[in-house]
Amino acid sequence: MERLFQVAIDGPAAAGKSTVAKIAAKTLGYIYIDTGAMYRSLTYKALKTETDLNDGHLLKQLLDHTEIDLVQEGDGQKVFVDHEDVTERIRYPEVSAHVSLVSSFEEVRVEMVSRQRKMAESCSVVMDGRDIGTHVLPNAQVKIFLIASVDERAIRRFREEERKGLQPSLESLKEAIALRDKKDMEREVSPLVKAEDAIALDTTSLSIDEVVEKILQLVKEKQLS
Ligand code: DC
Repeated sequence: MERLFQVAIDGPAAAGKSTVAKIAAKTLGYIYIDTGAMYRSLTYKALKTETDLNDGHLLKQLLDHTEIDLVQEGDGQKVFVDHEDVTERIRYPEVSAHVSLVSSFEEVRVEMVSRQRKMAESCSVVMDGRDIGTHVLPNAQVKIFLIASVDERAIRRFREEERKGLQPSLESLKEAIALRDKKDMEREVSPLVKAEDAIALDTTSLSIDEVVEKILQLVKEKQLS
């Protein structure tokens, strides 16, 4: 049987993880798993059901009754919460503003990690998030830690939102990204940190294609070794 291959891509908010992970997965023929979308899905449902976002136990109970499906479609991935298509909605600023809090509870993370590991059990994957190389897939053959300056990440988000017809403010995007970095890095459970054996890639002055190319090269080197 062919050996399953795991590529872990971690890094701060808006570093371009999902864009490059999606393309790399498609090129390699692997499944792409966006773990941030899973935490966003729970946040969306908690807001919708007016669940107390400061109560980790309640959030875990809510998660136990929540089906989150990541479905590959063409070049992208659709996200469903209890069969409702929430692909766009989980990117709304209200969800982004609360997702760090929801993802900070250990009970929530234990269940999410268990779902994520199960997804990687039967096929080769490219998985992106904050704790993939350190915790979810510690034996991943390739681990990448993507970084980019806050300014560059805010500009990327700005353009992304403009393309969606929104009218973003660069300053607020910068502030929101810096705040989310801080919360993700300072939380007690599985904080955002580079795995010792991860390769750091600064994407500030690299194009999407250049980043993908580097990742594919690392995968090829590992497969040949
Ligand atoms: O990658 P993203 O911006 O969609 O992630 C949303 C949030 O979810 C992020 O602020 C931190 C959290 N997250 C996490 O704690 N662990 C992961 N593996 C993925 C995301």
